[in-house]
Amino acid sequence: MAKEALEVLLSAEQINEKIKELAAEITKDYHDKNPLLIGVLKGAVVFLSDLIREIDVPLEVDFMAVSSYGADTASSGIVRIQKDLDQSIKDKDVLIVEDIVDTGLTLNYLFENLGSRYPKSIKVVTLLDKPDRRKVKFEADYCGFKIPDRFVIGYGLDFNENYRNLKDICILNA
Ligand code: IMP
Repeated sequence: MAKEALEVLLSAEQINEKIKELAAEITKDYHDKNPLLIGVLKGAVVFLSDLIREIDVPLEVDFMAVSSYGADTASSGIVRIQKDLDQSIKDKDVLIVEDIVDTGLTLNYLFENLGSRYPKSIKVVTLLDKPDRRKVKFEADYCGFKIPDRFVIGYGLDFNENYRNLKDICILNA
């Protein structure tokens, strides 16, 4: 991929600033709780690792992997668990950590699936939201940036498993 094909949408500085704001809100809302943060692999890994270091309450971390787009940039509409949690979430305050809400299918499924496991509470934080692409109604409790309907990469987000290591979030002009 040629370098010119990448256009910075959100800089590392903008992302860091937003993460501090989100973490402050989460710290306030969970000040008397011990939340379990569930990162959705692989895209949310970078966001989760920065976010947890800004949250000032005791917390736990676990991961889930669900099927994603594969080599295509269009949603398959099929959600499948590839890696489940290591623990029960019964009576826990669960916060799902996602990189981006696009069609809403993934989070809609995860919210229903985890919600049926008797958590005390369940909320969602997403760094990015592409509201124009929704196929099912879904609103995250905490959202970093609403972005236009463009395919983005970097800061954990990939195209064909590449670009996750970029510090900025960029638009991929294919
Ligand atoms: P949804 O189920 O359509 O909401 O998609 C959620 C998942 O699709 C995210 O966790 C990402 O892995 C992937 N995804 C959606 N949009 C993008 C994008 O613009 N760049 C990279 N991955 C994306």
